[in-house]
Amino acid sequence: MTTPVLRLAGVTVRIAGSHILHGIDCSVAPGGVTALLGRNGVGKSTTLKAILGIVPAAGRIEFEGQDIIGRPTHRIVRSGIGYVPEDRDVFAGLTVAQNLELAHQPGVDPDYDTVHELFPELLERRKQRAGTLSGGQQQMVALARVMLNPARLLLIDEPTKGLAPKLVEQVGDALVRMAEHTTVLLVEQNLPLVRRVARDAVVLDTGRVVHTSPAADLLADETLLDSLLGVAAVPGPGGAQR
Ligand SMILES: Nc1ncnc2c1ncn2[C@@H]1O[C@H](COP(=O)(O)OP(=O)(O)O)[C@@H](O)[C@H]1O
Ligand SMILES: [Mg+2]
Repeated sequence: MTTPVLRLAGVTVRIAGSHILHGIDCSVAPGGVTALLGRNGVGKSTTLKAILGIVPAAGRIEFEGQDIIGRPTHRIVRSGIGYVPEDRDVFAGLTVAQNLELAHQPGVDPDYDTVHELFPELLERRKQRAGTLSGGQQQMVALARVMLNPARLLLIDEPTKGLAPKLVEQVGDALVRMAEHTTVLLVEQNLPLVRRVARDAVVLDTGRVVHTSPAADLLADETLLDSLLGVAAVPGPGGAQR
């Protein structure tokens, strides 16, 4: 068996006295997209924040075999983990170009070719203040920032939230491209997008892993989807798409 890029064992998070993660156990195999799924409030974003050391966690979190728990966030990011947070947080007063420049890491030749190929609009709007962009364009900036650096694991939190279908497709294109070069752990509610991009699925419920399987197996199982996520089965590529 290949060594997982990421392995969580008994990861617990307690914030202000309340238990948010109750012992997460899961592994992310190298390459491709692993989808982290679950209803609202079950701990998906907290899991990503625990991996990054943004919230204090106990247990074991291995990145490429090394325990990274307790390390400061900047060291975790430097060791090769990129993060696109749920709230996008671009610098509203800065231009698109300045937002991207801030993501440059020392000693790295930033990969603008891929960014401009996938998001040509960012090149056209490079002098525009990020605060005047649409939500979709801001999401492109947030994704572009992590694409500039050669991370070996990307943690991406609900990148299509609130986006129009055309933009969801564009974000999907970017995820597919990212996953050709690196490993992606993706929190996503849009199940047709999960079907398109994800190889594996991990489902959380109230701070625990309740299901792990190939994504296609989960998405094809109406009973499981209903019990784990409270949604109906997802139409295949030939079925009706919303
Ligand atoms: N900083 C915090 N302080 C207190 N409770 C929090 C904090 N962050 C998240 N929570 C709680 O932890 C639970 C999991 O949150 P979250 O990880 O954001 O869920 P998800 O991303 O799956 O929607 C929720 O009940 C949320 O209210
Ligand atoms: Mg969340």
